[in-house]
Amino acid sequence: MFVHQHVLRYLLRPEHYCTQRQHDLELEQLFLPAWHFIAAKSELSGDGDFLTLELFGRPLLLRNSGGRFLAFENICSHRHCLLTDAAAGHQPKLRCQYHGWEFDDDGRTAKIPEAKCFRPWDRDNSRLNSFRVEACGDLLFVCMDSSTPPLREWLSPFFEETERAFAAPMWKMTHVWEYDCESNWKVPVENTLESYHVTALHQKFFGDQLPAEKNMTHLLHHRYTGLNFDANSRMEKLQARLKQWLGGKPEFQYLHRHIHPNTVLVSTDTINYVLMYVPTSPTTVRIRMRFFAVRGTRRGPLASLIAWLAWRFAKAKTLQVHNEDLDIYASQQKGLERSRHPGVIGSREERIYAFQKYIMDALGLTPSPDPANPAAQRVVS
Ligand code: FES
Ligand SMILES: [Fe+2]
Repeated sequence: MFVHQHVLRYLLRPEHYCTQRQHDLELEQLFLPAWHFIAAKSELSGDGDFLTLELFGRPLLLRNSGGRFLAFENICSHRHCLLTDAAAGHQPKLRCQYHGWEFDDDGRTAKIPEAKCFRPWDRDNSRLNSFRVEACGDLLFVCMDSSTPPLREWLSPFFEETERAFAAPMWKMTHVWEYDCESNWKVPVENTLESYHVTALHQKFFGDQLPAEKNMTHLLHHRYTGLNFDANSRMEKLQARLKQWLGGKPEFQYLHRHIHPNTVLVSTDTINYVLMYVPTSPTTVRIRMRFFAVRGTRRGPLASLIAWLAWRFAKAKTLQVHNEDLDIYASQQKGLERSRHPGVIGSREERIYAFQKYIMDALGLTPSPDPANPAAQRVVS
């Protein structure tokens, strides 16, 4: 059952999806204090493996140092060069590409060519800027704010569930998918929060029937929203049986979690994925996705083959659905930037209402005028 049984106001206004002012406010107040998924441990499994990425305008380097995962700003303290331009690679020592300064695990300078030229040594200003890194299962998260609570607390009450859904030996990361969209980051986030569009946009996959309200439970909270869906279609029962055969415990559930502002975690009996929405401008977003497939505990060529076939099928279907969604983002963005409608949210879309309410409250924004209440509209305007 849905929490609300009536229509809801569309709280955000079109300008909240396209202005530089809104973008800057969100970066400062929503994104910088949050934890952000950046990679799976298996993407940098060897000692010395690293990867780089740009997060909210800051270049970042994530490194495996003897099994410890460390994040630094990818900027050298000598003359500001990027330590490396490579998207990923392997380096026994963290070393700047320009003059070869080397840094230790704490970001302090280690070996410096012709160090005597730098006397007297300014220890305080020669250290790399570093960021907090914490793990949940195989997922690595980074945080740029020292006052943010630990990851376990931030992912609560879904930390243990996430840990189980993204960890060996039951689950294995099988696919990395990253793509850019011509829309504000909230457009794809709101898309993933509702099942209302599935019959119109994903007819091939979902058919004519919307998922039944009686099988859906929405969790609405200012830090997160969730969906627990009792998965009982023929396909979902088949997935559950497959998981059981591979040595896992079937759950018959589709779980969808949105940790505000921009982390989405999805788990089913055969495929789990994490989605991270990284705004790259007021009207563009990079979507970063990591897929995990059930591998189970059963071993042998038949088990490997079946797990692989199930994964291929699940991946094809998931990407088909995501590609259908992708096309709508730019269209909604174009409409949003020109719209003079107040907009409206149905009870099936109530997680969007909770998400918008979180943004309004966190940024201290004034709600849009209520078209059903002209008195309130006058006060607001
Ligand atoms: S800029 Fe990095 S060593 Fe010179
Ligand atoms: Fe969709």
